[in-house]
Amino acid sequence: MSSELKSANQLKYLFHPKSIAVIGASRSPGKIGHEIVRNIIGFGFDGKIYPINPNANEILGLKAYPSVLNVPDEIDLAVISVPAKIVPKVLEECGKKGVKVVVIISSGFSEIGNVEAEHKLVKIARKYGMRILGPNVFGILYTPSKLNATFGPMKVRKGNIAFISQSGALGIALMGWTFLERIGLSAVVSVGNKADIEDSDLLEFFVNDPNSKVILIYMEGLKNGRRFLEVAKKVTKVKPVIVLKAGRSKRGAIAAASHTGSLAGSDEIYSAAFRQAGILRANSIQQAFDWARTMVFQPPPINENCIVITNGGGAGVIAADACEEYKLCLIDLPKDLADKFREYMPPFGSVRNPIDLTGEATEEDYGGAIRVALEDPRIGAILVIYCHTAITDPGMVARAIVRSYIESRAPKPIVVSFIGGVECYEGLKLLNDVGVPAYPSPDRAASSLGAYYRWARYAGIFEKFKA
Ligand code: ACO
Repeated sequence: MSSELKSANQLKYLFHPKSIAVIGASRSPGKIGHEIVRNIIGFGFDGKIYPINPNANEILGLKAYPSVLNVPDEIDLAVISVPAKIVPKVLEECGKKGVKVVVIISSGFSEIGNVEAEHKLVKIARKYGMRILGPNVFGILYTPSKLNATFGPMKVRKGNIAFISQSGALGIALMGWTFLERIGLSAVVSVGNKADIEDSDLLEFFVNDPNSKVILIYMEGLKNGRRFLEVAKKVTKVKPVIVLKAGRSKRGAIAAASHTGSLAGSDEIYSAAFRQAGILRANSIQQAFDWARTMVFQPPPINENCIVITNGGGAGVIAADACEEYKLCLIDLPKDLADKFREYMPPFGSVRNPIDLTGEATEEDYGGAIRVALEDPRIGAILVIYCHTAITDPGMVARAIVRSYIESRAPKPIVVSFIGGVECYEGLKLLNDVGVPAYPSPDRAASSLGAYYRWARYAGIFEKFKA
């Protein structure tokens, strides 16, 4: 077995453990070790849970053990939440017990210059063939296993984005934010100081994980950049990898250095290396998750020909500008196709791409025009823009879009933008809940489709369709 395969193999216990020990499972609500046990139970983990605490008999209704060595069962995953000075001792006990992977929550290692102590942890882990996530992390979440071994929020929306975060607080905050934004996650992995398990190990796991369609990384720096890029180059041929690499500015780089000890390096070098490896670099949290939303919901584009369907001339112009900026190719429609679209617009509509159904467009017109676009193989991707008018109900328009999308079953992406007030917000929710990516601005929709195109070109998707 290659070392790559072996490492990915061992990681399965991080995501699919049958039994978990929480070392430092505190009796006091509000303490990290206590909240981790509460989250594991509350999120519905159906394996065995063993709280470890020499000063307790029972935590949250579960029998507590003084040490992992006293547990009368095998332990796949241990989560350590005791002060740094006790970590080597309990880690050694994990090794003796035969634990497969250990998540070390405790801070107080290389992030404060305590490099030697961190090396010692790796040495202990290697001696026993264990893997370490951390130290200095907030835990691991994997929704397919109903595993929430974090001290973040208990409620997380299930989905297919695997999120790796180098920042603890940001990672925890985004767990809550994604719930609010109706974004579904397969995993959240806090990598902290990356003493052992690093981004490239996780890429190797997620590339073969059927529950994760897109991998999104918040990164401040890399320890082993060459390996990361080598692995990423292969992974991005299979599924999209989006990186939000912070520390772009001079001051940001200084902040990253003092936050996680990351040497930010030259930002242009990162950008160029990411591009070569097929990584999509996002500039903001919103942009990263916007892109991921389109990629998890929709199949990739089938060719370079895009169309924009709108009921507003101005919104169409904005969309056309955005398409050019994000390298989306708006085709000139052949006559037979233009005639089909004309059926869904008044005589003063336009079949120049953007296709303007005009302010008179009803939900039936939207549904019909979208069906034409979905069914014609010459069109590779569709961008739908809707401006709220008094003669339409955004909810009805959203339903018409969904109906056409479901009925046609066309394997091509459709992204939507609804512009307007509260009713539009309801329409956006409806669309996103059924897997049609929808955004409040044409720019965000076009940017998401543009990112999907960049990935499809890199991964050779269009060649696969031709073959
Ligand atoms: N084995 C098991 N449990 C033990 C042992 C042992 N050998 N010895 C003591 N314990 C118990 C303690 O009795 C205590 O339980 P109790 O509250 O019921 O008495 C429990 O373990 C925890 O020990 P404490 O000494 O109370 O430690 P505390 O919970 O205050 O802190 C922690 C431990 C959370 C690991 C802390 O040291 C730490 O590192 N905090 C920072 C964590 C962090 O932020 N990580 C990065 C996350 S990312 C971000 O930025 C958000």
